[in-house]
Amino acid sequence: MSVPKLKNDRLLKACRREAVDRAPIWLMRQAGRYMPEYRALRAKHTILEMIKAPDLATEVTLQPIDAFGMDAAIIFADILPLLEAMDLDLEFIPGTGPVIHNPIRHTDDIKRLVPADPEEKLSFTIEAIRQTTQALDGRVPLIGFSGAPFTLACYAINGGGSKDWLIPKQFMYEQPEAFAALMDQLTEAVAAYMVAQVKAGAPVVQLFDSWAGILSPKDYRRWVLPSATKILAAVKEADPKALTIHFATGSAGILHLVKEAGSDVVGVDWRVDIKQAWDGIGHDVAVQGNMDPAILLAPKEDVCSTAREIVDSVGGRPGYIFNLGHGIHKQTDPENVRALVNAVQQTS
Ligand code: CP3
Repeated sequence: MSVPKLKNDRLLKACRREAVDRAPIWLMRQAGRYMPEYRALRAKHTILEMIKAPDLATEVTLQPIDAFGMDAAIIFADILPLLEAMDLDLEFIPGTGPVIHNPIRHTDDIKRLVPADPEEKLSFTIEAIRQTTQALDGRVPLIGFSGAPFTLACYAINGGGSKDWLIPKQFMYEQPEAFAALMDQLTEAVAAYMVAQVKAGAPVVQLFDSWAGILSPKDYRRWVLPSATKILAAVKEADPKALTIHFATGSAGILHLVKEAGSDVVGVDWRVDIKQAWDGIGHDVAVQGNMDPAILLAPKEDVCSTAREIVDSVGGRPGYIFNLGHGIHKQTDPENVRALVNAVQQTS
């Protein structure tokens, strides 16, 4: 099936640091519970059912584009089904969040992991990318994504979310060889998954390393940088035109290392000034971010003025993508999202 010609290529141009008439905008977690359209579907299906039914995933991916007109869609999926594909027992428990019932705690647990062939074990998301690409009909580009190995290892070892991730950290420090073996397996799986997404039609893929910011720069360099570098290189090797975004939260102290991994775009959270961050890592890479998602809970005027300040601060330099510094909160008023998208799209 051919990929429809793109009518809005601002995101791709910004990823390549080419001039655009204005900054493209999309929002992490732009499809989700803050939208009544999402909640209506979610009332009838579990999140995993929605992710695993390509028709539903396509519908949810389009919801924010239809409602607010962002400059990019992001495929409706999650980072954790990849762990399920490797034979971990994943459940999303309402009110608790994701749980892995058989977490990895010993070398033997790593031996029982199976390779996650994406065309077989994650075929639902690959198919959803194909369907969404056709449904979008070139309106905006579609972003694919994966969790990065470190963040996935955190969930796999901890068995669910955590504030301090002490169990995975203890595992890493106490059983370094086992941790390295786990990172290697995850690196292979993530690379194959991202390559499959690009081949299915996603022109851009984002690597989410949500928890890499809990590491010291020294540990990031040792434990994470080689794997991110390998994954990003594998995507480029599979398709030199494919574009990559690399995002970690709490990454102020490791941004130069995140850049070193070699993505086209570095995502930054709101804990840093985006201009300073860009000046610091160098302008030979594009940047994405970085409004605090909590500002969307403020009055509309404040949302718009903060967004304009961020856009102004980067001064029209090619290679800037507007986004939040992390995922949108479910308490967000959709009208504030509409105002935000309009405010950014009226800047130039
Ligand atoms: O951005 C998008 O619109 C695409 C969809 C998307 C989801 N998850 C859907 C989802 C993306 C990009 C993700 C990534 C993801 N998932 C990350 C990395 C990004 C980040 O935020 O750091 C992480 C760490 C996860 C793991 C995850 N999935 C958690 C911790 C939870 C529970 C959160 C909660 O508030 O309950 C999920 C569930 C999830 N993934 C939801 C959505 C829309 C909410 C589930 C629901 O409808 O009940």
